Amino acid sequence: MGAVVVVGTHWGDEAKGKFVDLIGQDADVVIRYGGGPNAGHTVIVGENTYKFHLIPSGILNPKTLCIMADGMVIDPATLVKEMESLTERGISLDNLRISQNAHVILPYHAKLDKLEEIAKGGAALGTTGRGVGPCYVDKAARLGIRMGDLVNLTRLREKLKAVLPHKNALLTKIYDSEPFDQETLLAELTPLAEKLAPYVTDTQALAGEAQTSGKRILFEGAQATLLDIDGGTYPYVTSSHPISGGATIGTGIPPTAIGQVLGVVKAYTTRVGAGTFPTELLDEKGDRIRERGHEYGTTTGRPRRCGWLDTVALRYSVRVNGLTGICVGHLDVLAGFDKVQICVAYRKNGVRLTEFPAGDVSLLDGCEPEYEILPGWQDVDITNITRFEDLPVNARAYVHRVAEIAGVPAVLVSIGPRRDQTLVPPGIPAPRHLFHVASGVPVVPANVV
Ligand code: IMO
Ligand code: MG
Repeated sequence: MGAVVVVGTHWGDEAKGKFVDLIGQDADVVIRYGGGPNAGHTVIVGENTYKFHLIPSGILNPKTLCIMADGMVIDPATLVKEMESLTERGISLDNLRISQNAHVILPYHAKLDKLEEIAKGGAALGTTGRGVGPCYVDKAARLGIRMGDLVNLTRLREKLKAVLPHKNALLTKIYDSEPFDQETLLAELTPLAEKLAPYVTDTQALAGEAQTSGKRILFEGAQATLLDIDGGTYPYVTSSHPISGGATIGTGIPPTAIGQVLGVVKAYTTRVGAGTFPTELLDEKGDRIRERGHEYGTTTGRPRRCGWLDTVALRYSVRVNGLTGICVGHLDVLAGFDKVQICVAYRKNGVRLTEFPAGDVSLLDGCEPEYEILPGWQDVDITNITRFEDLPVNARAYVHRVAEIAGVPAVLVSIGPRRDQTLVPPGIPAPRHLFHVASGVPVVPANVV
C-alpha cells in the first residue's frame, strides 16, 4: 500500500481540494502537511459547497482521520471558525487531529505580514496577508509558539512573555504601529485554546502507526510547486514546501512510503500575487478565462491572473515532484476558443529555453512564450458529460497532448467543480485503486493516455 500525494503543479488554485475529496473517499487518513490559512480549497458535494482554509478536505468523509501536521501554520481563530461552520452543517470533527508541533499564527504575525507588504511598496509580494510568512520566520528563528504551547496556558504565558517584547519593538520602532498587550492577547487566545485542546496530539505517532499498519494515506498539498520556498519563483513564493517532498517533513511518514504523486494542473495557468508569469494574457482572452473559470481567490477574493497553459513549468513540476500522473482540471473553461495554445518553450534574447530555470528564476523576466497551437472545441456545455470518450474530439486531443508533453498519464479530468463532473480516461484505474498502484511508477504507461 503506497501513500498518495496530491500537489499543485503551478502557482496554486488548481482545485486540489476537489481531487483530494474524490481520491480521499477511500482514504483512511488525509494529511495536510504545509501552509496555513493562505490556502483556499473548495469542495462541492451535492448541493453543498465547503470552503476550507485549514482543515483537510477529507473531513467530509466520516471514516477518514484528518491530520493537520507539523509543517502547518495555524491561526486558531480561523480554525475555530472553520470548525464551527462545519459542525453547524452536521459535519463531525471527531476525526480531526492537530499536531502539537504545528506553529500558531498570532495576531502580530498577520499585522506584520501587512506592514511588511506596505513597506516593500512596489516590491510587495502580494501575500494573502494571513501572517503565514512571519509565522514561518518565527519558526525558523526558534521564536515560534506551537499548538502544544497554545493549549497549555502556563506555557503560552511564558512563551508570549519571551517573544512579545521583541514583536512589539518591531511593531513600534520599525513600523510605527501599535503594540500588542499580553493580557489582552491571552484573554483572546484562552477560549480558542480550550476549544482546540481536545484535538491537539502527537500526529507523527498517529500517522506513523497508520502507515506501518497498512492504512491508505493521502496527502493534501496546499499552495503549489512554483510557490515552494526553494524550488519556486523566489521571492514570489510562500514560506513552506508545497512540493511532494514536503509531505515527508514533520508528518511521520518517510519518502519510501509514498507510492503515487499526482499533480493537479489546470487546463490553463493562473497566478495570484506578484511575480513573473510568462503566459499571462492581459487581453480579452485572459478576461474570458477569468470569468468562465470564476478565477477570483477563495481566500482573498482577488482576481487571478490568467494565461495559457505553461508546460515548461509543468514538466519541471513532473520532475521535481516525481509525478506519476496528472489530474487535468477546468477543461470546461477552455470551451469556445477557436484555437487553444500550450506554451512549450520560452524565448529570451534569441535563445530558446526548454527547461524551467528554477536555478535562476530571474531568467524568466522578459521571456516570451513559444506556443504550440491546437484546434479549440466548440462552445458547447461539456459539464454534464459522463464519459471521457464523449468529450469533443479536440478536447480529448488537448488532454492527450498535455499528458504527452508531461510524460505521465492524465488520470482524472475535471469538467466542473462537482464530484460527478470528473472523468476517468480509458485504461486508467478508478481513483480508489490509486493506493494499490506500484510505488513510484506511472499509474499506467505514459503512452496509454
Ligand atoms: P491554494 O492551496 C494561490 C501566494 C500568494 C502570494 C504568495 C505568498 O489555494 O492553492 P503567503 O500569504 O503564502 O505568504 O503569500 O503565495 N499563495 C497562493 N496562491 N493559492 C494558494 O493556496 C496560495 N497560497 C499562497 O498569493 O503570491
Ligand atoms: Mg488559493
